[in-house]
Amino acid sequence: MDYEKNIKEALSKVLGKKEEILLEKPKNLEFGDYAFPCFSLAGTYKKNPSQIALEISEKLNKTKIKGVSKINPAGPYINFIVNKENLTNEIISEIFSKKIKKSGKEKIMVEFSQANTHKAFHVGHIRGTSIGESLARIMENRGTRVIRANYQGDTGMHVAKWLWCYLKYHKKEKLSNDESWIANIYVDAVKKLAGDETGELQKEVNEINLKLESKKDKKLNELWKKTRLISLQALEKIYKELNTKFNVYFFENQVEKEGKDIAKMLVTKNIAKIDDKATIIDLKEQGLGVWILLRGDGSVLYSAKDLVLAMKKFEKYKVDKSIYVVADEQKLHFQQLFKTLELMKFKDIKKCKHLEFGLVRLPEGKMSSRTGDNILYSNFKNEIVDYAKSEIKKRDSKISEKELEKRAKVITIAAIKYSMLKQDPQKVIVFDKEESLNFEGNTGPYLLYSYARASSIIKKAKIKINLKIKLEKLEDKEINLIKKLGEFKEVTEQAYKNLDPSTIANYSFELSQSFNEFYHFYPVLTAEDKIKQQRLAIVEAFRTVLKQSLGLLGIDVLEEM
Ligand code: ARG
Repeated sequence: MDYEKNIKEALSKVLGKKEEILLEKPKNLEFGDYAFPCFSLAGTYKKNPSQIALEISEKLNKTKIKGVSKINPAGPYINFIVNKENLTNEIISEIFSKKIKKSGKEKIMVEFSQANTHKAFHVGHIRGTSIGESLARIMENRGTRVIRANYQGDTGMHVAKWLWCYLKYHKKEKLSNDESWIANIYVDAVKKLAGDETGELQKEVNEINLKLESKKDKKLNELWKKTRLISLQALEKIYKELNTKFNVYFFENQVEKEGKDIAKMLVTKNIAKIDDKATIIDLKEQGLGVWILLRGDGSVLYSAKDLVLAMKKFEKYKVDKSIYVVADEQKLHFQQLFKTLELMKFKDIKKCKHLEFGLVRLPEGKMSSRTGDNILYSNFKNEIVDYAKSEIKKRDSKISEKELEKRAKVITIAAIKYSMLKQDPQKVIVFDKEESLNFEGNTGPYLLYSYARASSIIKKAKIKINLKIKLEKLEDKEINLIKKLGEFKEVTEQAYKNLDPSTIANYSFELSQSFNEFYHFYPVLTAEDKIKQQRLAIVEAFRTVLKQSLGLLGIDVLEEM
């Protein structure tokens, strides 16, 4: 039943008002399920709001509002209390009804993660990957067709640096798809170039970059192909651990040639110009500085390649929207990109969106793969796995090695992802290992723990849960929990509208808190039969919704913890 609509209609009638009526939802259940504030009416009625609340309540009480059992004036508010038996039964039966998945018409491409080859996968990549995957799931959940796209830099200056460093200093080492080996060569290149006072070394790198682009040096090409592949393999291992899969992979090397062509074409159209040999677009008038497309030596930059990519996405995949989940460090780049596409009269420009996310800091400082002090994904993860293991052992000293391994992995991913997703994407976050693994705070492990606790109750009950049960005579905290369960749909809508998984993360936390409160106050397994059945159904409903909710965050659950 749409309680809100019924209340609004009744209010409209009494007030004789055409404009929209806004209801509030009091956090505290004692104040009712909906509240109507009367402040804004003071002007029209020339009375104080409390008086108005009294009078309107009196009028409302003369007729019946469907689904509402009580109407109470309270100071300047009118509180509406809905029939809890109706409401709770509706919510629970909806959770258990196996509805067919909706299939929407919209098709959205979400480009995310975009980790480059020949470089480290760092903590910022984890955030972008977590956000992108979660957004994809949130969209799919409401029937949108989602194409998960990756766009990896497998060519360009960073690759030239890597190849140069390998050939010059590491040639004796065997190629390996170990993430840290690959990353360390890049880090070494950056270090060596930092000490390059004469610029001789950078010259060598530039030469390699040109050769790489022309693809004419056979040996170099072979080395590039091999190292590209091992890099991609290393990245795929990480994606698997993070519960992510891509439908489409774009690579910078595929758009290099067309990038050059576009840059030249833009010169003929007077959108770009040659300046000191380089090809640039002057966007100073638009407040966006100068955007360089080609270097003076003719080699193509990241910018020009993105022009090609933007068009490819629409040409080939006919998407209705193209979202780029990319760190806010690239905000200017995307403004320049979108502005240039606009100047080119690209017809789908309005459908492109840069969803920016903030930096991840560790208590020690910023992590970057460009500098020497980069934190690799694998080191980062292993550190958390170890910590998780010690926490699990504290609770269960007899756990088998295999089970320990499995649980520690799931808990680690939950801890990392949740701490990245619970904040609004645009905020800078400081990742704190201990805090993220705290089993009692607003953390991934706390949510997994709540889920496992519910599963354990169901398991111990050893009876078939009656999913069609009619709930009666519910206690306050039972009602609270069920009402919270009922918010799930609205929360997912909001997360979709704002492209913000944190809405779902924080909902999962509140839901688990309600559950733990319920569990703390009322016995389930030792209650008398009818009540036990009823409570078991509530526990099962909680499990169902929390699992879905965590699923939208890309977090797996554990039945035992
Ligand atoms: N690979 C790029 C980098 O590491 C990010 C790519 C973002 N996507 C894009 N279409 N530009 O900076």
